[in-house]
Amino acid sequence: MEELQEQTVWRSDPHTQVKHLVYRHYLQCWMAKILQTFREATIVDAFAGPGVYTDGPPGSSLVVAKTFLEHTAHRRFGKLNLICLEERPDRVEELKRQFPKLPPSPQLNISVQPPGKFADQQSQLSMLAHRGRADTPVLWLIDPFDLKSAPFSLIRQCLTGSRDEVLFTLFTNELHRFCQRENFDKAVTPYFGGNHWQVATSERRPGGCPVNALGHAG
Ligand SMILES: C[S@@+](CC[C@H](N)C(=O)[O-])C[C@H]1O[C@@H](n2cnc3c(N)ncnc32)[C@H](O)[C@@H]1O
Repeated sequence: MEELQEQTVWRSDPHTQVKHLVYRHYLQCWMAKILQTFREATIVDAFAGPGVYTDGPPGSSLVVAKTFLEHTAHRRFGKLNLICLEERPDRVEELKRQFPKLPPSPQLNISVQPPGKFADQQSQLSMLAHRGRADTPVLWLIDPFDLKSAPFSLIRQCLTGSRDEVLFTLFTNELHRFCQRENFDKAVTPYFGGNHWQVATSERRPGGCPVNALGHAG
């Protein structure tokens, strides 16, 4: 955890690798469908990170770009805008150093935004991503380290366009383990936008197995 907070680049772990595998599979299908139907679409990597891990694997923004460049149908694709946001200046600089290592493509337009927080930038990013048309397909990747950086109210704001989609990290492990801990409601209630989540805690049995989703990968 200290590594994540102090260093620009950190080591990947098995969760990260699985998360990127899910991203790759989803992106392969999304790109094949969307980029062969529409002339232009956008992916917003809203918690981009530095674009690389100390043990070698690419970060999420590079996974997006490589999936595009290596796709078997790539030559038939429309244009893809990839917009990356990261709050830490050192990670933004590292991310900018990673993209020139990829082969350029006139069909792939990459924009690394100045350092900023997603909550502050969402409406500006949405304007950039839709390029003046509410029906431009936009896929948002929302992958924070914690609950508070991307509450559901913010995720909802990413779904205002008719072809917007969100792929987000759900903190299933943390929610399951700590949902009955004192004061955890102070984090969870703003996350879900109400206290309706508390009815689920009564369904919890000791040793019971929770339903699982794409868990926290940070
Ligand atoms: C889980 S890591 C992202 C990993 C990256 N998506 C990947 O899969 O390679 C979360 C990143 O979001 C950044 N971050 C934290 N809070 C943020 C915020 N409010 N807005 C934008 N970036 C933030 C962190 O500095 C960190 O680099």
